[in-house]
Amino acid sequence: MKDPFLSLEQAIAGIQDGDVVAIPTETVYGLAADATCDKAVAKIYAYKHRPLFNPLIVHFKSRMHAQDFVEFSPMAQKLAEKFWPGPLTLVLPMKNSPGISHLCSAGLSTLGVRIPHHPLTQKLLDALTVPVAAPSANPSARLSATSAADVRKGFHPQSLPILDGGPCAQGLESTILDASVSPPRLLRPGALSVEILETVLEYPLERSFDNPQRPKSPGSLLKHYAPCKPLRMDVLDPYPHEIYITFGPVHSSHTSCVSLSLTGDLQEAAASFFRVLHEAETLPGEGIAVAPLPQEGVGYALNDRLIRASRA
Ligand code: TXA
Ligand code: MG
Repeated sequence: MKDPFLSLEQAIAGIQDGDVVAIPTETVYGLAADATCDKAVAKIYAYKHRPLFNPLIVHFKSRMHAQDFVEFSPMAQKLAEKFWPGPLTLVLPMKNSPGISHLCSAGLSTLGVRIPHHPLTQKLLDALTVPVAAPSANPSARLSATSAADVRKGFHPQSLPILDGGPCAQGLESTILDASVSPPRLLRPGALSVEILETVLEYPLERSFDNPQRPKSPGSLLKHYAPCKPLRMDVLDPYPHEIYITFGPVHSSHTSCVSLSLTGDLQEAAASFFRVLHEAETLPGEGIAVAPLPQEGVGYALNDRLIRASRA
């Protein structure tokens, strides 16, 4: 099998040639392709087995570049200034005939945009004249990838070219805010905590996220982020056959036990979240039990992922 690891130059050339390349971001790895090329974007959907109604986030090198494609309200402008580059995706109205593949927006009149904060990917975007569409680099509905090894595991035995940028610093997807409506609405909790967003918005965001019956974000499908073993959350007493994921010290009495953060640090737990779930998939044990996580800061986003992962 061909070596899937690319140099930065090879990754740039790959995207220019209409190929799909896995790229690192500060949140999770993305499956990237030229956002202006239908054929290239179609390949992303095929790799992920992603339903075509689920739109993709488009990644830009700068706000100036994004402004050619989407409209920024004064509030969106303020948020972008404060949080970009970084783990915030803004859903914004698309300009007329913006040149973005319709597959990215999946027929909506809005586009999810963000500027990622990762040195390699920033160099990649700087070298390209086009923005890059990139959903998380995992097969649809499965665990996100926060390292090159996770990407390979997810798509095995397919070979996928990867730009290896090391483990993702944040480890959790971006927070998505619909800023095409006034006031902006939270669509997905993520690496940027709701509390920090609220300090700029100056009003409380609704915490009950999407109604799973009628999701505002087409990707907020009921079952998502699912490991290939049954998962239970908020567990204080795991069954002996389960792999127990703790928040704080490991339980020496339980045979298979992994901690998200030995010191009970939520930021650390977010960074290790998908890595630990990937590990739990491969450990012996028939199910996964996760200890309660505080419903604050990035804990909202972690609990949101666990609720979806635990749906049978
Ligand atoms: O951190 C992240 O956001 C990563 C990295 C690679 O940037 N990307 C990511 O993409 O998580 P994905 O495709 O796994 O999740 C994007 C979510 C989906 O649920 C999709 O439905 C939603 O964003 N989305 C994208 N465009 C949208 C739009 N115009 N309106 C509403 N939701 C949108
Ligand atoms: Mg995803």
